[in-house]
Amino acid sequence: MMTDLVVVGAGLFGLTVAERMARLHGVEVLVIDRRPHVGGNAYSAVEPETGIEVHQYGAHLFHTSNERVWEYVNRFTQFTSYVHRVYSTHRGEVYPLPINLGTINQFFRSALGPEAARALIREQAAELGGRTPRNLDEQGVNLIGRPLYEAFVRDYTAKQWQTDPRELPASIISRLPVRYTYDNRYFSDTYEGLPVDGYTAWLERMADHPKITVRLATDFFDPSQPVSKQAVVGQVPVVYTGPVDRYFDHSEGELSWRTLDFEQEVLDVGDFQGTSVMNYPDADVPYTRIHEFRHFHPERDYPDDRTVIMREFSRFAGRTDEPYYPVNTATDRERLAAYRRLVDEEPGVFFGGRLGTYQYLDMHMAIAAALSTVDNRLGPLFS
Ligand code: FDA
Repeated sequence: MMTDLVVVGAGLFGLTVAERMARLHGVEVLVIDRRPHVGGNAYSAVEPETGIEVHQYGAHLFHTSNERVWEYVNRFTQFTSYVHRVYSTHRGEVYPLPINLGTINQFFRSALGPEAARALIREQAAELGGRTPRNLDEQGVNLIGRPLYEAFVRDYTAKQWQTDPRELPASIISRLPVRYTYDNRYFSDTYEGLPVDGYTAWLERMADHPKITVRLATDFFDPSQPVSKQAVVGQVPVVYTGPVDRYFDHSEGELSWRTLDFEQEVLDVGDFQGTSVMNYPDADVPYTRIHEFRHFHPERDYPDDRTVIMREFSRFAGRTDEPYYPVNTATDRERLAAYRRLVDEEPGVFFGGRLGTYQYLDMHMAIAAALSTVDNRLGPLFS
């Protein structure tokens, strides 16, 4: 084997490991991915009719308060000053999210100040009289009161999970943020923005190093290709960022995921919705959100008579679907514990990333985790 380290998965976790190991430790790294592109779920592509950059696996907004991660990502790209804001169309009216003083006053046709609004929500949230919520529906009422919960959360959650919230565990939602100011900035991190020349340019720069070789359209579990599990495990160290249950042939059972379906459309209008993300929380609309990609880059010279939108639908994932969000039921947690025991017994294989650890990770979290893996586990192996 003409390499020192094999990285399975060219997402942000795998690329960060590969880049750091090549640059800091002079290690020859072979990165494989079963998809035909690098970048994992952060990958984007230009829609050919309009030239508009489309995030292929759902909208990706970069944000972090981690100084080390911010310094690291700025080696590969500059970021725009984009600030994310989300709106919600409920019964023909548009409200700002996350729920804030503007949302509350619009919804209740009122002009409450912060303290009066707080008192109102507290009173509405007291409906259960101190009883512990038995399901997600009761939990929602307990957190923000019935009117706001039913308008903005109940049916949206039902669409996300394809399940009545009365049949979902309360633990799915531990908090629902309500802001008693008019601040509707979606993220509250120190740094936020989008890569100036797009995600793909950023991600390809991470892999652009003489000691890094990338092999695309290559599945680790395909025994007919030379970098398969059978061929490399035990021969060279492996960083594996695919699904942990797949690595062990689902021996402890399948971990459950939600997936998303996207419907992309090019429209003959310059601006469809006036903003990048509009939520649709009502039960009679089948999708959960519409993304309009031109609004992620107001600084770009995009056509003024065409636009690209993407409707997002959510459902449970089957084995052949893209796994997006861990469902994390009690059974999942038991199975994950069993897989973790197997992981500990798999010498020379380092499991990481969102699929390898069965965890939702934002991009900055995946990068931070990869940097720690290099510091604590992989770096020492080669020094
Ligand atoms: P990722 O999934 O990106 O990469 C894993 C790679 O492994 C994939 O490319 C896959 O093809 C490959 N692989 C799997 N099995 C393999 C096999 N058998 N052989 C070879 N290759 C294999 N974050 C954020 O900060 N802001 C945001 O706005 C969003 N938005 C967002 C929307 C949606 C819908 C999702 C699902 C996720 C986000 N994220 C996000 C999270 C972001 O996508 C996440 O942090 C990164 O994808 C994590 O990178 P990883 O490398 O861990 O996984």
